[in-house]
Amino acid sequence: MTAPHGLSPLPGGSPLLGTLRSAWCGELRLDHQAADVALCGWVDGVRDRGGIVFLNLRDRTGLVQVVVEEGAAGAIEAARELRAEWCVRVHGAVRPREVEAKQELATGAVEVVATKIEVLSRSAVPPFVVSEQGARAEAADATSEELRLQYRYLELRRPRMQEIFALRHRAVLAGRKHLAEAGLLEIETPILFKSTPEGARDYLVPSRVHQGSFYALPQSPQVLKQVLMISGFDGYFQMARCFRDEDLRANRQPEFTQMDLEMSFCTEDDVFRITEGYVQALWSAGGYEISAPFPRMSYAEAMEKYGSDKPDLRFGLEMQDVTDAVAKSGFSVIAGAAERGERVRALAVPGAEDFSRKDLDALTDTAKRHGLKGLAWIKTSTDSEKPFAGPPVKFMEGDELPELMTTLGAEPGALLLIAVGPPRRSAEGLGAVRLAVGDKLGLQGTGEFKFLWVTEFPLYEQDEDTGELAPAHHPFCMPQEEDLHLLDEEPHRVRARGYDLVCNGEELGSGSIRVHRQDIQAKIFSKLGLSDEEAREKFGFFLDALAHGAPPHGGLALGLDRMIMIIAGTDSLRDVIPFPKTASATDLMADCPSRVAQAQLDELALKVELPKD
Ligand code: AMO
Repeated sequence: MTAPHGLSPLPGGSPLLGTLRSAWCGELRLDHQAADVALCGWVDGVRDRGGIVFLNLRDRTGLVQVVVEEGAAGAIEAARELRAEWCVRVHGAVRPREVEAKQELATGAVEVVATKIEVLSRSAVPPFVVSEQGARAEAADATSEELRLQYRYLELRRPRMQEIFALRHRAVLAGRKHLAEAGLLEIETPILFKSTPEGARDYLVPSRVHQGSFYALPQSPQVLKQVLMISGFDGYFQMARCFRDEDLRANRQPEFTQMDLEMSFCTEDDVFRITEGYVQALWSAGGYEISAPFPRMSYAEAMEKYGSDKPDLRFGLEMQDVTDAVAKSGFSVIAGAAERGERVRALAVPGAEDFSRKDLDALTDTAKRHGLKGLAWIKTSTDSEKPFAGPPVKFMEGDELPELMTTLGAEPGALLLIAVGPPRRSAEGLGAVRLAVGDKLGLQGTGEFKFLWVTEFPLYEQDEDTGELAPAHHPFCMPQEEDLHLLDEEPHRVRARGYDLVCNGEELGSGSIRVHRQDIQAKIFSKLGLSDEEAREKFGFFLDALAHGAPPHGGLALGLDRMIMIIAGTDSLRDVIPFPKTASATDLMADCPSRVAQAQLDELALKVELPKD
């Protein structure tokens, strides 16, 4: 079949070219000089220089300069009409560009001399500048996010966005290939299902057929993937859409995608090996070679050293427990913490000589926001006249401060930051301060990826005030063999065979070796205060499945959006999800959620009563 433009696609061009166009804008190079091409795309910018019109034409591969000269019959008149974001087709010949604009455009060595310009569709005046070229890039950055989300289709035309979604596509494809080659089967699980516990509220879908009953959109395919293992599939994965009605942040969307996997007859080592290969495949699609295996650290060690279950290992600054070292301190805030069931933790920060009072106040605020009463700081110096300064100094006499320096291995000049409180709160509080210090000192490098497996998570989380137990992750994690005996008497001390994959302080994924014995599963539910009837009502089908020859199994889920966000070097999930929701869970483009017709409510036997005010 001959294409209407009568040209053959440029060598290497994809089958997407062909009928209406013969080349991509962004792929034209000197090798193509003298070739006749038909291009389709959008007007990125247009400059009328009298006898000559310059036009930047954009498609998803990039931009190329089109020159329309006086004499090209009809073309120059058409070019003079053009405005930003009009959709056009250009016929012309590729020629070397006199003034190379290589730095600006990948196609900078060439331009296309137009012989014909067809307007395929005009555009209304865009509410913001789409082009990212030159000075316009600044205008592009300054546009409010609200406006960009409202006209998301225009924002998505921007080269940066096009690049991100091409990256996402390549990454997903490479990851799928890795999993399939490892022998896992891609299997879909339902979206309309029963509530599965992942700690958030459910999105409910009313049933028309069974009025008064509801489906829940899956918070994750957790229970179903376990059922698939009981069904004998051995290895499963799915690019699973998950729905969680929870407070939204830059790294949380109500609807997101997990790469969810599960394997039978496996240990942690098997899950880690396959996952590491997956992560390597994804990062490689973004141009990064990652080395594996990733280091591992127990949850207990991560909390002690970094005050976080997702430590950012791009920098050191390890915390130390100095409870014993300061037990007899003259500073009453920290003395005798052990007797009060509290811990004293400290950080020695080199290179913080210039921290101002304002900086220290900001760090104190960080500590307070994380539940601490305050933060003690001591500035140390090489000046032998005044080696220590800071509020606690006057209470810490004799050798106390030099001894503390020795305990911490700190050099004069270091800033000492000290936190006191219940074990977990003091760790998390100072951990948050550590991150703020890392940020202030610029220690969180970009383009650097520090992966870490955090292992042996506790099975339950115990509230430090009320003593109540909740699943630390979800209630399907297998306890560590040597902790099984603690399940009855001291459940809060039981460690699970649960793990997280962390990168640069962000949780990428979570998983565990699962409970495959019905008796252990029942006990775990009962410690959570679920009666047998409640457990049956929520998970009856699952408990029954467990009673039918369940294999030992385990797996994990990685947040795909979060991984793409990190690979793309952005700091918001909204940059990597084509149609994201705002922080108040709305879609500004479609203006949803929205009301529905009374007839629809009637069919579902639903009545809406809004609060009075
Ligand atoms: P979890 O709840 O930890 O585990 O989720 C796994 C990963 O999914 C990502 N994630 C999110 N991404 C964007 N927006 C959200 N609201 C959001 N919530 C979670 C995170 C997280 O690490 N069923 C278990 C997995 C398992 O045990 O196999 C689960 O869903 O990157």
